[in-house]
Amino acid sequence: MGVHAYERFWMFLSGLMLAAFLAAVGFSVFGMGIDVPGAAGTAPALASAAQAGPFAQPGVREVAPGQYEVIVSARAWQYQPNEIRVPAGSRVTFIVTSQDVIHGFWIQGTTVNTMVMPGEVTQVAYTFDKPGRYTFLCHEYCGTGHHVMNGAVIVQ
Ligand code: CUA
Repeated sequence: MGVHAYERFWMFLSGLMLAAFLAAVGFSVFGMGIDVPGAAGTAPALASAAQAGPFAQPGVREVAPGQYEVIVSARAWQYQPNEIRVPAGSRVTFIVTSQDVIHGFWIQGTTVNTMVMPGEVTQVAYTFDKPGRYTFLCHEYCGTGHHVMNGAVIVQ
């Protein structure tokens, strides 16, 4: 079977592009530490239950030197806690759920960007190397107060 030179060229180019895209994905995962927010289990849906378990006490706690865990409970139209303070260089794992409807959790200037769903617990981590104020906000339309739903991670 003869393959035309042009066809061979395009086949080669397609293979090259696949390899380049795979390399880009590989680099983002292993080189830059970007990962997809994972489902960390299910939380009982709706207000009363989403306030149970770890979500009974939202807030920041140090789990190991330089490592923090933040339990975040979202509801229309606020986050609890809405101010998170950690020292620079901290690895922070956010464990997030919603008490009512679908919200978003996007921390500006970081790779943290996830949906927050009632009945689901989302876990996502980030290392805050640079001190500063990182605003987080809701990016899933959730009602009339959607635009005021925000908070901040303050890295000291
Ligand atoms: Cu919560 Cu939009």
